[in-house]
Amino acid sequence: MARTTTTVVALAAASILALTGCGRGDTSGGAGANPSAGGDASAAQGFPADSLIGVALPQKTSENWVLAEGLFNKGLADAGFKADVQFANAGVSEQQNQIQSMVTKGAKVIVVGAIDGSQLGTQLQAAKDSGATVIAYDRLVKNTDAVDYYVAYDNFKVGELQGQALLEGMEAKKPNGPYNIELFAGSPDDANSKVFFDGAMSVLQPKIDDGTLKVVSGQKDFNQVVTQGWKAENAQKRMDTLLSSNYSSAQLDGVLSPNDTLGRAIITSVKQAGKPVPVVTGQDSEVESVKSIMAGEQYSTINKDTRNLVSETINMVKDLQAGKEAKVTDAESYNNGNKVVPANLLEPVIVTKENAKESYKDDPTLSKITQ
Ligand code: BGC
Repeated sequence: MARTTTTVVALAAASILALTGCGRGDTSGGAGANPSAGGDASAAQGFPADSLIGVALPQKTSENWVLAEGLFNKGLADAGFKADVQFANAGVSEQQNQIQSMVTKGAKVIVVGAIDGSQLGTQLQAAKDSGATVIAYDRLVKNTDAVDYYVAYDNFKVGELQGQALLEGMEAKKPNGPYNIELFAGSPDDANSKVFFDGAMSVLQPKIDDGTLKVVSGQKDFNQVVTQGWKAENAQKRMDTLLSSNYSSAQLDGVLSPNDTLGRAIITSVKQAGKPVPVVTGQDSEVESVKSIMAGEQYSTINKDTRNLVSETINMVKDLQAGKEAKVTDAESYNNGNKVVPANLLEPVIVTKENAKESYKDDPTLSKITQ
């Protein structure tokens, strides 16, 4: 049947993406997705309503993770579960130990925001062997069969929106190019970083090729522009060097920043160098960045409301508890190197000064800044 052919073609395409290391490059996945594909056979049995649910979060590299901790603790408790929510501030081996300990304590679902998406295979296999369901949260886990679902905002779309915002912001300041820009990406161990970058470059590369954009430093490859550990000080240092080596006379028009923390570090560097603030993108709707946007400094951020992502994840846990398959909106696009992981994707929204008030009207903290 046609369905089978479509699935085979989609799987083949997904494998090619995996082989070429492109991460998620297929934006067409959503529509024809088969919501019942993939998933976990053991889920069909359900589990007791007061079971332990483990949530392994990475380091506190941005506000969204800190918000997630509180929301998971409260949301899981309100739903009647026992919650074990952990940060792994000391790094990968701490996260491995935490997951192992959740398995030992009998967690029925393990939700993982991986520090390093390719280093958890052994622990997640142990989770599967114990009968638990594994949900990758926000960041995909790579190169393992031991993951049942993925729940996240559409990360490729995040990158596309950042690329578009960078162009629009520069055009608003100066209608005609060429524009001088620099590129930043996130931490290379986070599976999302390459996806954000690929999404942004799908918009920016054609403009680099036709001469509208000039990356003055010449640093255009993912590996040249990464920011180890998503650390602000690493982005600031790199920006300092880029400015002193390339912009003594040239004007910097825009910087692609993958998130707000790094965006603010880039702005700090530019200000310290005594240069005008260029168009800088971001992501996460962090309080300080929303203030900066309202003050006309940072140009854009992305609204990926953590409340929705956590409640969507908890709904998936509730479905699994009841012996149902969890919700899947895209069963084709996320090949982790071993398998296509059924994904529940949420829509990110670009935010600039223009739509900030509307975007945050339901957010008790951010609506106070944007009113
Ligand atoms: C998340 C971003 C966040 C970054 C750093 C990514 O995996 O998707 O929202 O800014 O990690 O914490």
